[in-house]
Amino acid sequence: MADFQIAPSILSADFARLGEEVSQVLASGADIVHFDVMDNHYVPNLTIGPQVCEALINHGITAPIDIHLMVKPVDRIIPDFAAAGATYITFHPEASEQVDRSLQLIRDEGCKSGLVFNPATSLDYLEWVIDKVDMVLLMSVNPGFAGQTFIPATLEKLRQARAIIDASGRDIRLEVDGGVKVDNIGETAKAGADTFVAGSAIFGAGQSSDPNSYDTVIGAMRQELSNARNH
Ligand code: DX5
Ligand code: ZN
Repeated sequence: MADFQIAPSILSADFARLGEEVSQVLASGADIVHFDVMDNHYVPNLTIGPQVCEALINHGITAPIDIHLMVKPVDRIIPDFAAAGATYITFHPEASEQVDRSLQLIRDEGCKSGLVFNPATSLDYLEWVIDKVDMVLLMSVNPGFAGQTFIPATLEKLRQARAIIDASGRDIRLEVDGGVKVDNIGETAKAGADTFVAGSAIFGAGQSSDPNSYDTVIGAMRQELSNARNH
């Protein structure tokens, strides 16, 4: 079974102190940096681009950077994120005219590729391209904003995605994104997720008066994951 990886979404970080925030969550035990890219077109919000990714790397971040593209179209911006140091680049199939081509482009640029499934999007998109996918990301909220409530139907969808991945025999990560918190992360792991995005649950904890709050929340998530594994 794959290792569990915790991926703080920097959408909920203090953007004025972004480098420091990312360093702190990694020092507190996070594994990868989840980087939400929104274009006010595919989703109704606007965030950050390749220059910010490059700035994090120049700041000294060496952890994998997981670029979640919520933009349309996707192909134009893929080489820019690859040049900026992305590890994973994932996109929504509805946002690409040629899903197979976009996946291949990500790999040709030297990155790991992934498809993102909205709550209402069928896993059928995987059938003919699974050999070009390194990451399957299931949205457990509708994309666009941090701080939304986890949609419970995602648990059954995770089970189905886990079965598809296992049947393929391929090394593909299964990531869940949206409304993941200490009290439901274990359930998502039991349903088959191995990579856990959390924005408000992690960075929200940093706004409390406890100086070790990132350690506390990430430690609590790690404990829930360990309980889920031994279940
Ligand atoms: C939503 C983004 C998520 C979001 C997660 O469109 O893709 O990564 O920031 O935030 P929380 O964990 O607060 O739901
Ligand atoms: Zn995301």
